[in-house]
Amino acid sequence: MEHKPVMREEIANYMNLNPGQVVLDCTIGTGGHAQEILKKIAPQGRLIGVDRDADSLSIADKNLKDFNGFYTLVKDDFRHLDRILENLKIQNIDGILFDLGISSFQLDNAKRGFSIREDGPLDMRMDKDSYISAYDLVNSLSETEISGILKNFGQERWHNRIAHYLVEERNRAPISTTKQLSDLVMKAVGYRYGAQKIHPATRTFQAFRIAVNRELEALDMALDKAVRSLNKGGRICVISFHSLEDKIVKERFRKFSREGILTIITKKPLRSSESEIAENIRSRSARLRVAERI
Ligand SMILES: C[S@@+](CC[C@H](N)C(=O)[O-])C[C@H]1O[C@@H](n2cnc3c(N)ncnc32)[C@H](O)[C@@H]1O
Repeated sequence: MEHKPVMREEIANYMNLNPGQVVLDCTIGTGGHAQEILKKIAPQGRLIGVDRDADSLSIADKNLKDFNGFYTLVKDDFRHLDRILENLKIQNIDGILFDLGISSFQLDNAKRGFSIREDGPLDMRMDKDSYISAYDLVNSLSETEISGILKNFGQERWHNRIAHYLVEERNRAPISTTKQLSDLVMKAVGYRYGAQKIHPATRTFQAFRIAVNRELEALDMALDKAVRSLNKGGRICVISFHSLEDKIVKERFRKFSREGILTIITKKPLRSSESEIAENIRSRSARLRVAERI
């Protein structure tokens, strides 16, 4: 399924862009937000689009063909954004976007191993060149380490119980598919989730995905670099999808605001409109924070 960019209009407006500006899209995905940004900075503007997923970048390249010559795509982790800009000989930028997590394009491709509902290999790597997959973590970490991942990155209440089931199961045979993992979580805690709306394995999958891709660490490292590379008046927009990410963004923006480096534009995070949520359920958990460089 084609990825629907979340809060597309809000991003186009809050980034406050003008023709000729230079923008860094740290999570270009398949290029949905990038198209809106390019419309605002054309003619003569330049967009740098970063993603660590090569498949997404090649789709983005097709989707952006009308803007040929005005964008550069880079396969890298956004935690290295200082090096990325340096390699391109760009010193400062006028706007920066992070739209965190994974796209529908990645989620819906069962072979990537992100999906709870479709069976696939237990992979979950955004960057297929990276070394550690969900299979490695699930089958080699200790019960305590797994329990810690589920607790810290999934906020999973029954972290100990799931970790215990998992280790018992893998002692019989390795857990190698997404279906095996999701069935196992169902067996461990399915009944405890009762009538809750989310699938009982949602938190477990989120936790392993965050651990495999070291997502919070990447965000933590990138925010300082991002803010420091912004021109005066340039804006940083971050869309996050769970409270762990949002907390990092909120605290970092506050710190920069105290230091007189940023003005916070969104005192509270913006949420998607009801009509957007009706059209795109993924937008239900999105929170957008915006700040401006002083
Ligand atoms: C929600 S999608 C972005 C969708 C995009 N805004 C669009 O409109 O198509 C998030 C993207 O960020 C990428 N990503 C996540 N963490 C990353 C990181 N640390 N470095 C580079 N890319 C990352 C994922 O591979 C994914 O393609």
